[in-house]
Amino acid sequence: MSANAAAFDPFGEDYQADPPASLRWSRDEEPVFYSPSLGYWVVTRYDDVKAVFRDNVTFSPSIALEKITPVSEEATATLAKYGYAMNRTLVNEDEPEHMPRRRVLMEPFTPEQLAHHEPMVRRLVREYVDRFVDAGKADLVDELLWEVPLTVALHFLGVPEEDMATLRKYSIAHTVNTWGRPSPEQQVEVAENVGRFWQYAGTVLDKLRKDPSGHGWMPYSIRAQREHPDVITDSYLHSMMMAGIVAAHETTANAAANAIKLLLENREVWEEICADPGLIPGAVEECLRHSGSVAAWRRLVTRDTTIGGVPVPRGAKLLIVNSSANRDERHFDDPDEVDIRRDNATDHLTFGYGSHQCLGRNLARMELQVFLEELTRRLPHLELVPGQKFSYVPNTSFRGPEHLWVHWDPAANPERKDP
Ligand code: HEM
Repeated sequence: MSANAAAFDPFGEDYQADPPASLRWSRDEEPVFYSPSLGYWVVTRYDDVKAVFRDNVTFSPSIALEKITPVSEEATATLAKYGYAMNRTLVNEDEPEHMPRRRVLMEPFTPEQLAHHEPMVRRLVREYVDRFVDAGKADLVDELLWEVPLTVALHFLGVPEEDMATLRKYSIAHTVNTWGRPSPEQQVEVAENVGRFWQYAGTVLDKLRKDPSGHGWMPYSIRAQREHPDVITDSYLHSMMMAGIVAAHETTANAAANAIKLLLENREVWEEICADPGLIPGAVEECLRHSGSVAAWRRLVTRDTTIGGVPVPRGAKLLIVNSSANRDERHFDDPDEVDIRRDNATDHLTFGYGSHQCLGRNLARMELQVFLEELTRRLPHLELVPGQKFSYVPNTSFRGPEHLWVHWDPAANPERKDP
């Protein structure tokens, strides 16, 4: 084992600050390696990560939502107290169960269905921007980028809007519970919130079951259960009720914060999209490639095999670092540059690839596009507050700054000159 592989720590400062940069050595020298501190094999090059995503039989997704840190007895007891039983959803379901379920549940994700949501997303973004447009300073995460995707997620799922602050606490607990390395004391606190989140999901589900006639993916799934009870099981519905909120919300909130941070750090690109909003779709894709919100995903090896020529045994767990693949110069020219006209930006693996590829990707893209359109139009003179230190919830996979402070001169707002 090389010294670099022995020293790799995805909860350490380097990976937390910049996952793809922290794995440059691996892309160059040892693209598939075993990490003793994690107990996982780590895969970092584009072609290898894509090959793993592509073959979901050799590389089972069943561990995608497993707790990456072994759980203390106390935390296990806490979760048991709440009857916590998170099980298979879609993202961690094997074949042959996965595909029939995905097919039955796909319709609400078609472009025609998603188009209905755009006016609501735009109205929401405008209302939130109205609240701070004259203030001259804002934390975009707290004042816009967290709550809007949460509201959109609840609306898409057909879940009544509840206390946003509580749901924020719950989803962060789910992230830490699944992909983080909490200390034994933190584990109990995290387990309390995860347990409450689980119960909350059950309560909402019970409510929706009483009247599943409404809009949204969850009522749609409950109706689908009547026709396909073996495909849409009770366990699936409860697990998805909880995991779906996180899948639809946190990923998108983080992606938006990453994108705006990246564009403001590359001022000339920001100014280009302010001058020509037609460039925004390309910018969205390039931001997803360069600074996506899902940094790494997981698979379980089901038979002895090789990845990039390296033998990997049956039973091995894989951390496939899609954020590293997205910066692989073997696939993307000048991968660290932000190039909104890059012709292969959509090849990025931020949404995964193959039969489990993110179902919500076009909803996420639309939200990101609306954020950028509204902010570049109403606050083109926006700047990052200099000197701020960005913090991230320590974990392997979900990635976005916890705060994003920006400032501007309200007297120079375009709408003041041209209301
Ligand atoms: C699956 C990322 C937004 C729903 C996934 C996967 C990733 C991912 C990496 C696993 C793919 C694989 O295993 O190949 C993201 C990112 C998002 C985002 C980066 C935002 C920028 C959303 C939204 C929704 C959603 C908004 C729902 C409205 C799902 C579902 C799956 C999934 C249902 C499971 C698909 C399956 O296994 O068949 N997503 N996601 N995601 N995502 Fe997303």
